[in-house]
Amino acid sequence: MSNRKLHFDTLQIHAGLDKHDKTGARGLAIYPTAAYRFKTCDYAASLFELSEPGNIYTRLQNPTTSAYEERVAALYDGAGALAVSSGMSAILITLTGLASAGCNIVASPFLYGGTYNQFRHTLRRLGIEVRIAPEPGPEAIGALIDADTRAVFVESMGNPTCAVPDLEDIGRVAAARKVPFVVDNTFGACGYLCNPFEWGANIVVDSATKWINGHGTAMGGVIVDGGNFDWTGFPGIDCPSEGYHGLNLHEAFGRQAFIVKCRVDGLRDLGTCPSAFDSYLMALGLETLSLRVRHEVESTRRLAEHLRGHRAVKRVSYVGFPDHPGHDNAQKYFRFGASAVLNVELQGSLESTVRFVEALELLAHMTMIGDSISVVTHPASTTHKQLSEADLAKAGVTPTLLRISLGLEDADDIIADFEQAFQKAGLV
Ligand SMILES: Cc1ncc(COP(=O)(O)O)c(C=O)c1O
Repeated sequence: MSNRKLHFDTLQIHAGLDKHDKTGARGLAIYPTAAYRFKTCDYAASLFELSEPGNIYTRLQNPTTSAYEERVAALYDGAGALAVSSGMSAILITLTGLASAGCNIVASPFLYGGTYNQFRHTLRRLGIEVRIAPEPGPEAIGALIDADTRAVFVESMGNPTCAVPDLEDIGRVAAARKVPFVVDNTFGACGYLCNPFEWGANIVVDSATKWINGHGTAMGGVIVDGGNFDWTGFPGIDCPSEGYHGLNLHEAFGRQAFIVKCRVDGLRDLGTCPSAFDSYLMALGLETLSLRVRHEVESTRRLAEHLRGHRAVKRVSYVGFPDHPGHDNAQKYFRFGASAVLNVELQGSLESTVRFVEALELLAHMTMIGDSISVVTHPASTTHKQLSEADLAKAGVTPTLLRISLGLEDADDIIADFEQAFQKAGLV
């Protein structure tokens, strides 16, 4: 393919397809193999000492996964991508690749509940302190950075509140302190709605389980390296690597140093690789990403407008409305100024909310977003159940709050489903 710059809609189908195919097959080949035969002992040795790229073992690389990684890197216009087995694994490999015991990470307060738990429990047990800023502004984040800070971490749109931090200003604060800026861009739909690299991010993580896969058929995560951080002097990257006979990753791999480290240290040691079949599902999901997201964003806007002022509803928290605290930043950082998720606080009690959820016929009651089937989640009893009352309040989660992630059904049918469930729950 020539080097001309292709649009997102085109790249999501073509990127990564041809390079790994020798047959002309239209579909991406699935390589269900654990290991690869080495042509010679010298070749095997060169692979193991990282002097030549190539396949060693599927825990580290797989041709199906490589094609999918290239597609993701192309969509973000990044220096490289690494596919892993879940979004949580992408965060863990990224942050343990940057920080070790005695270091800290500074994070925004609007985070997915699972990420809070990883920060509060697992990273703490590993000796990595996560400092959650009292509010998501650049000043609050900057005030927590010190000489031991190894990353600033935010979600481009917080789950479930849809808060949107000021990526550009936070990126500036992180850059001024020479700290990598890591953005969980799950809501940014693999760069289609939001590409944090355009706003100063250095590393992006994405739960591929959501919009990338798009059909709820597999778990996955990706790490994308923007190739735009100067790793000079960075501990663990610009130094002799104990695991690779003193090889300096910064000198050997330049702008790809971090993503190589995630693969050759992170995946090698933590082992959370995707299966070839799951990588195939992700790459296939990507082919329709922008079409799905456009439909979902439009249906979400229609539902939000229908529910605003409805007598069964106390509050609609939709980032596309000017009264949402994330509205201005969403306008700046998100295509269409919105995502396909909205939060609805119902009138009534916890009990009537439960009746409502159980009466819905089309929306699936699950903890999921970005699926082709529309989803309703009750964060207080599911994703955020492990949080203390103080943390629930900080995350904006109340007993009658519902998170809605719209799928590909007709919006009129979804609105009708809400109406019949309001009736059954006694809310109208
Ligand atoms: C913003 C965000 N980051 C990370 C994750 C974790 O991803 P996974 O479920 O693929 O491990 C989720 C899951 O919902 C999420 O919403």
